[in-house]
Amino acid sequence: MKLKFSLVTRRTFLNTLFFGWLAAFFSGTVYALMRFAFPTLGKEPDFVVLNWKDFVDIPPNSVKPFPWGGTVGLYYKKDDGSMIALKGVCTHMECNVAYKPAERRFYCACHQGWFDADGRNISGPPPKPLESFAITKEGEKLIIARKGVKVELPKA
Ligand code: FES
Repeated sequence: MKLKFSLVTRRTFLNTLFFGWLAAFFSGTVYALMRFAFPTLGKEPDFVVLNWKDFVDIPPNSVKPFPWGGTVGLYYKKDDGSMIALKGVCTHMECNVAYKPAERRFYCACHQGWFDADGRNISGPPPKPLESFAITKEGEKLIIARKGVKVELPKA
């Protein structure tokens, strides 16, 4: 059966074409502007190289943050002097976590998530432990890397 009229008018067709093109154009522009304004958004490194001197003197039972791509890492010195490095981003919905020295635990204020001193999730909604990193000292450099990543620095 052939219809004697069109289900889509010429005006509707042209409006759809025009506004579809407009939406595609502006979404590309907005994306490019976002990438320009926040270049590290969504990018995470495999390792970072820091200055050892900036971290050697932190007192026991304290945390010093370090940049981890567009997020934050936490360099934590325990009471016994041992150190660990954790990604300071909650595994629930990616809020930043804070260290609570009095309780010797990490806390996520977004939904009251708790992690123990080793970054293991112990209470609240976080489904996984905080990501922990490998720590290496090379001369005056402190290298913090994802576990399993082999870091080869260029020879100076
Ligand atoms: S984002 Fe941390 S508990 Fe929800």
